[in-house]
Amino acid sequence: MDHFQYRDGVLHAEGVSLSAIAERFGTPCYVYSAATLTRHYRVFDDALAGIDHDICFAVKANGNIGVLGLLADLGSGFDIVSVGELERVITAGGDPAKVVFSGVGKRVDEIERALEVGIACFNVESEVELARIDTVARRMGKIAPISLRVNPDVDAQTHPYIATGLKDNKFGVGIERAEAIYAQAATLAGIAIRGVDCHIGSQLTRLAPFKDAVQRVLALIDRLAECDIVIRHLDVGGGLGIRYRDETPPSPAEYATAIRDLVAGRDLKLVVEPGRVLAANAGVLLTRVELLKPGIEADDKHFAVVDAAMNDLLRPALYDAWQAIVPVTETTGTVEARRWEIVGPICETGDFLGRDRELALTEGDLLAVRSAGAYGFTMASTYNARPRVAEVMVDGDVPHEVRARETIADLMRGERRLPS
Ligand code: LLP
Repeated sequence: MDHFQYRDGVLHAEGVSLSAIAERFGTPCYVYSAATLTRHYRVFDDALAGIDHDICFAVKANGNIGVLGLLADLGSGFDIVSVGELERVITAGGDPAKVVFSGVGKRVDEIERALEVGIACFNVESEVELARIDTVARRMGKIAPISLRVNPDVDAQTHPYIATGLKDNKFGVGIERAEAIYAQAATLAGIAIRGVDCHIGSQLTRLAPFKDAVQRVLALIDRLAECDIVIRHLDVGGGLGIRYRDETPPSPAEYATAIRDLVAGRDLKLVVEPGRVLAANAGVLLTRVELLKPGIEADDKHFAVVDAAMNDLLRPALYDAWQAIVPVTETTGTVEARRWEIVGPICETGDFLGRDRELALTEGDLLAVRSAGAYGFTMASTYNARPRVAEVMVDGDVPHEVRARETIADLMRGERRLPS
């Protein structure tokens, strides 16, 4: 459930109409709902009640300081993949002691900073990385808490670009190699073994791959126990999918119950790293129709050129992802509906937000691209010298600008001509 609803024919984020937001902050613009984020976090947290757990929001889904700050206040931890994300968490008031650090290529300076602020765990993705973390930690006179990311080799049944649990991808280590690596880790003075983690992919809409993965990792934990290697936490990653169109993903409660049943009775803390399921449906991308370019021949396509583009929301262009596009003002019937290609002004054929969408459009209309709160702004670029858009978070009746629109000057900051 989210807090984007029509009231008197106009789409609102909580108590504020999206047309008022467009008027005040301009378009394009991301609009988030604080109540929706809060609700999604609480539903997830409640679903895990009764088992020792930490929710570590995947910052890559939405790293806005306003979003992170709200989640930090709710008690969330964070899953980061760079020192940039770590600094965002700290700036937002997040607790470094609730941060897990994932990613295949952690640099020495990133490891140093993470050790300096005392993160909860490094999710180690290879033996060389383990050795690197050990070296850095010992040099700093610290002990790095680690977890090994294992690849349980299950098919996540999702888009190949976002499936990560199969053998032949760059993430983690094959689960069959894990015991040897843990045995090695146990000998390293700069390393403290804390957990095991896995992340099998994103936008998963079935429970079976999660259950398979957890079972395989639990079997590993048992084998490690036989060698006196004690695992204190199991991090099952993120990946729970949402409904963009007609998907029927398990609810957070079903997901949590399934995992809870598998870990029940064990002395293990559960860590989860959800991103999309918390943030996606808590945000929309608000855009205005710049001009309409209807086809002339019968089989021509009709193009609606909007002011947002693939640089603002990349998912449709990159994954051919479908996100709902709805009018901000409900159609009155005076304009005839047509099947429109909703495209941006960027010079690429792949620059579209939606294809073949039945909408009754007039120039100047406002549209909302739904489910844009995750992997929306974080994947934005400035391609075609387009400044990144504003981000607004509505809290009740108040819209807060949580990120100002970039200016053209921002885009050129730090650039210069060669000396003459
Ligand atoms: N943990 C790790 C280690 C991850 O790699 C990811 C996402 C997550 C947690 C969070 O997954 P989530 O709960 O959001 O599914 N840009 C793509 C999604 C890429 C996901 C990458 N990893 C998209 O727009 O669909």
